[in-house]
Amino acid sequence: MQEKLLNLKNEALAQIMAVRDNNELEKIRVEYLGKNSGKLTLVIKKIPELEPDQKVIVGRFANEVKKMIEDALERQKALLQKEREENIAEAEWIDVTIPGIRPPEGHLHPLTQTLADVISLSRRLGFQIAAGPEIETDNYNFEKVNMPPDSPSRDTQASFYLDPRGSKVQPGEILLRTHTSNMQSRVMEKSKPPLRVLVPGKCYRVDDVDASHNIEFYQFEGFVVDRGISLTDLLGTVDYFLKELIPGTEVKFYATHFDFTEPSVEAYIRCTICGGKGCAYCKNQGWSEVLGSGMIHPHVLKFAGMDPHIYTGFAFGMGLTRLAILRYQLDDIRLLHSLDMRVLEQF
Ligand code: PHE
Repeated sequence: MQEKLLNLKNEALAQIMAVRDNNELEKIRVEYLGKNSGKLTLVIKKIPELEPDQKVIVGRFANEVKKMIEDALERQKALLQKEREENIAEAEWIDVTIPGIRPPEGHLHPLTQTLADVISLSRRLGFQIAAGPEIETDNYNFEKVNMPPDSPSRDTQASFYLDPRGSKVQPGEILLRTHTSNMQSRVMEKSKPPLRVLVPGKCYRVDDVDASHNIEFYQFEGFVVDRGISLTDLLGTVDYFLKELIPGTEVKFYATHFDFTEPSVEAYIRCTICGGKGCAYCKNQGWSEVLGSGMIHPHVLKFAGMDPHIYTGFAFGMGLTRLAILRYQLDDIRLLHSLDMRVLEQF
């Protein structure tokens, strides 16, 4: 019987070591140790029939064999588990030396790039940058720049007045600013000449949206106030400004009218879209109006507390959106507010 046990043990251990998965192991366990008909179990069941002195010896040996088979099963199980973990780790191994996937790289919006260029150019010319409110009083937006309520010029700047219900403000008192000229008086009231100021900002006008009009747009306003500022300072500065911003362009000036400047001057540049041949954008003129300017009206200086007999100044206001259009040769202003990456990626 001892020999039988020895054979069973050898047979079982050999089988266990050859097994590759847990189901097989379980089958082997049942084959040898199964409660009813396991090979070892059957041998053990016969032990009580042995002679008393044999019983003790065989019984002890049978227990040892059982323990050895159980241990071998456990060991093999642990080995299989370890191998499985190693396989998974191998499958998930990451090569940290492979270059990463580059996230798509953004860049500044064409309007922001244009604004940054305007600001750095202005700084070079000694201008300080100022910012002001987009929700403005009628007083600063219109009256202080010499546009009283009955001024016909107000019609050219159809405005979004704000509904003041529930506040102390009277109807018609506050609006979305129609131009950055609102900042002329705000700055002049608080500072002393010499002044060289640039005010970039958003403005709003009631309009029908089309290829060249939008109800919200960016402007920048430059103004200079000091003793002895003359029209030639204005013309020279504007000419330099435009030629720096749109290299190679030609500039021409026309007399015009603004309530807040006297005399007033409009600047045109060669249309960059058609190169001067004439197109829908420049209304076949070959020239595109880009900027309004003039010598600051004595009334405006006076309203802001400056003595127009001592100080003179010039101001210019330009649509940043229009400048961007001309720089990048876009034929529709709405493209600048498009969220379509195919458009924006081109700049
Ligand atoms: N505020 C004017 C406009 O928006 C532009 C301008 C500014 C004209 C300063 C003259 C001087 O149309």
